[in-house]
Amino acid sequence: MKCVMTRGIYLRANGNLPCYCGNGCVKTLGKIVNEKEANNFAKLHYFGNNFQYIRDCMEKEIVPFPGICEQCVYLEVDSPTESEKLHQEIDWLHWEPSYLCNLDCQWCSGEKQRRKEQRNTVLQFEIFQAIIDSLSQNNLKLNKGNVCGQGEPTLNKNVWKMIQYVKQKLKGDILISTNGNTPFLPEIVTCGLDKIKIAIDGITQEKYNEYRKNGSLDKILKLTKQIVEYKKEIGSKSPIIIWQYIIFNYNSSKEELLEFQNMAFDYGVDMIRVVYTKASNYSKQRANDFPVIFPNILIEEYNRKGRIPIDELYERQSIIEQLMTKNELKRSSIDTLKLLNICYNKLFLGVETYNEQLEFTKKISRVKTGSLSKNDYIEIVNFMNSAYQNLINIYFEMGFGDQADKYQTYLNQLTIEMD
Ligand SMILES: C[S@@+](CC[C@H](N)C(=O)[O-])C[C@H]1O[C@@H](n2cnc3c(N)ncnc32)[C@H](O)[C@@H]1O
Ligand code: SF4
Ligand code: SF4
Repeated sequence: MKCVMTRGIYLRANGNLPCYCGNGCVKTLGKIVNEKEANNFAKLHYFGNNFQYIRDCMEKEIVPFPGICEQCVYLEVDSPTESEKLHQEIDWLHWEPSYLCNLDCQWCSGEKQRRKEQRNTVLQFEIFQAIIDSLSQNNLKLNKGNVCGQGEPTLNKNVWKMIQYVKQKLKGDILISTNGNTPFLPEIVTCGLDKIKIAIDGITQEKYNEYRKNGSLDKILKLTKQIVEYKKEIGSKSPIIIWQYIIFNYNSSKEELLEFQNMAFDYGVDMIRVVYTKASNYSKQRANDFPVIFPNILIEEYNRKGRIPIDELYERQSIIEQLMTKNELKRSSIDTLKLLNICYNKLFLGVETYNEQLEFTKKISRVKTGSLSKNDYIEIVNFMNSAYQNLINIYFEMGFGDQADKYQTYLNQLTIEMD
């Protein structure tokens, strides 16, 4: 079993080191408070107790945070933990250069208040450098780097220097996600960055502004043009330019989607990434309806697992019961975790905002029924109750009493409130 955290690091602008659970950072594994601590990052954190706890659990094929990991899109129950790579390669380093933003998108609005409250909102270069040094001194290399978070990374003036430093010390394939409302700098091309993902969710300023409040489409187009030109000028193939388009109900007519792809051609964009969302005004279209003309396009449909029919839950449950009868306890526990993951994904279909999602994660008590019928909602929650009960029995039989107790505590708190 593994997840992004078995060989991953998520560093936030204020020094927090959360576990990267897909529904919000509800578990914190540590905090970098000063440079001295950053100098010892590998020993104190990456190889330290809290990070190691996750790996130990995954190795035993149990989840580290019962009731939270089942909700997480990054849990891979069937993949090997790959502990042998621990001292060689960090799979994933995600850092948040800035918690500030120059835009005001609705899905992010829950963050606005916290953003105001945060004083230390920009990751300090010296701290970052010390962390990278500490990892490099431990002979670690990097597989993938992800530069973003809950703010706009380019608002940290050192972001390009940070990327350059990581490339120099740890290597890795580095992607930055930006809203693109930033002036062009030659460093964007020369710092070693591999990919730049620019959020552009409309083909006119009016449509673009619906979601990206305070944003300017012109600035994005200008930035794209200048990166393309400068790459040509110095003969660089990188960074690969990705335009990301979030599909809402107001920007997804066939004409607009075709026009968007034509624009990407005209501007010399390398790739398009299409994202379906559950933020307000989300599109109910399915990914199959997307009219593709651009050669390099990735379509990420929202929550495919949530669309698995309820009947399939019963089929899966009956297979688990057969496994339990044959005393195949480990397999049945793993299949139960997968089943719970599908149940959560079905409930997430009824979650409409980022804040609701956070609330749901911390206190599974209430979701709007949204696209789920009331009966479906009740059926799924009842189903989850019995799946958790099974898991408790399985873990007791396997000799994992602590784990069973954690699930029992979680289950005791699981309350259902309907609108
Ligand atoms: C919180 S943003 C931070 C990076 C940058 N400020 C930006 O907006 O691109 C991280 C990623 O979430 C994406 N995002 C923003 N709103 C979203 C939504 N409603 N649904 C899905 N992805 C969203 C952004 O486009 C970006 O790729
Ligand atoms: S599976 Fe669990 S430990 Fe791993 S990222 Fe998700 S919530 Fe965190
Ligand atoms: S630009 Fe990015 S960080 Fe800023 S408000 Fe929008 S989604 Fe959030």
